[in-house]
Amino acid sequence: MLSRLQLIKNNSQIKSNILRFYTSLNGNGNDNNNNNNSINDILYTKDVEELINKQISIELTASHNYLVISSYLSNVKIGLYGGAGFFLHMSNDERDHAFKFINYQNRRGGTVFINNFCDNNVLLNTVYKKYNGLIDALTDALNMEKVVEQALYNLNKIAENNCDIITMDYVTSNFLHEQVKMIIFYV
Ligand SMILES: [Fe+2]
Repeated sequence: MLSRLQLIKNNSQIKSNILRFYTSLNGNGNDNNNNNNSINDILYTKDVEELINKQISIELTASHNYLVISSYLSNVKIGLYGGAGFFLHMSNDERDHAFKFINYQNRRGGTVFINNFCDNNVLLNTVYKKYNGLIDALTDALNMEKVVEQALYNLNKIAENNCDIITMDYVTSNFLHEQVKMIIFYV
């Protein structure tokens, strides 16, 4: 197993491992057992494994919340069908994010654990809320995205503390950029 010092010093090794990891994720490379072993040797800690599972719950809860909003807007008494379609699309997006983290967990050799709902007040309030118009729904969507963003930053920080460069790269390139765009969109 590579030591942390070796990982930090040996940039070309890190780049090559990140490339191999993405190649194996996409199913384009020769993903044999030797490759899997070297990927899993790169410091996948319990802290990061737990936060990936937490992120799966957060993404699934966000998906559920967007579905609640979409259902509300598509009620005949409200009739905001365009908005309903948008939030349904958002719900599917969040579910895709959860699938990506499930796939990532499995690729790193962690164990996927899926909670019913994430234990976060903002997220849970949205799940059980009765809405009062589009502005109300948009406000909750923004607050929810801020919670998701904070969770991603926290995951990235813990990965950094654990010298898990593959997780940092995966979270930043696949989620954080898009997350910041979403916050800007709602604001
Ligand atoms: Fe997401």
